[in-house]
Amino acid sequence: MQGKVHPVAVFHEFMKTRAVYPGTFDPVTNGHIDLIERSAKLFDSVVVAILKNSEKVPLFSIEERVEMLEVVVRRLKNVSVTTFDGLLVDLAERCGASVIVRGIRAVSDYEYELQMALMNRRLSKVETVFMLPAEAYSYLSSRLVKEISLLGGSVRGLVPPLVEKRLRSKYTGPKA
Ligand code: PNS
Repeated sequence: MQGKVHPVAVFHEFMKTRAVYPGTFDPVTNGHIDLIERSAKLFDSVVVAILKNSEKVPLFSIEERVEMLEVVVRRLKNVSVTTFDGLLVDLAERCGASVIVRGIRAVSDYEYELQMALMNRRLSKVETVFMLPAEAYSYLSSRLVKEISLLGGSVRGLVPPLVEKRLRSKYTGPKA
């Protein structure tokens, strides 16, 4: 068998499922990390894809968002980080992902997510899988984290320490 790859191994390689987890991640929260960890257990590999130019004006530049995400997923060996512009389904195709992962926190998320999932299914063969974050993060969002930071509140436990530090320096300067 030396030097030869067993057909079963070839089949397993072929059958591997890659998922893409897209978002704005401005900034990444513990809720996102919870979903990345869950996806990394479920799929063979996960590509976290950060949208470069959304309609929303981001607080963190694309470079800052990539850097923070790369640090927090470093320990997860089957997770990588990329950026994208244009259609999500095109990105999924480019990186060989057959699944899009999206988190649903509450019923209020569902309508928008359903619309997006159905539209993506119309555009391509990629399937959307909805996942639930831990209950503790069901009310957490990047928007609220930014608002709390801006108003001087604590976001400890809601974002990784690195993000907490970056938020503080965004709003109060690097020495705070
Ligand atoms: O973190 P967000 O802001 O909820 O992520 C939204 C995102 C990036 C998943 C969505 O805006 C998106 O997929 N944008 C790419 C453009 C696209 O494919 N639009 C058609 C969606 S049906």
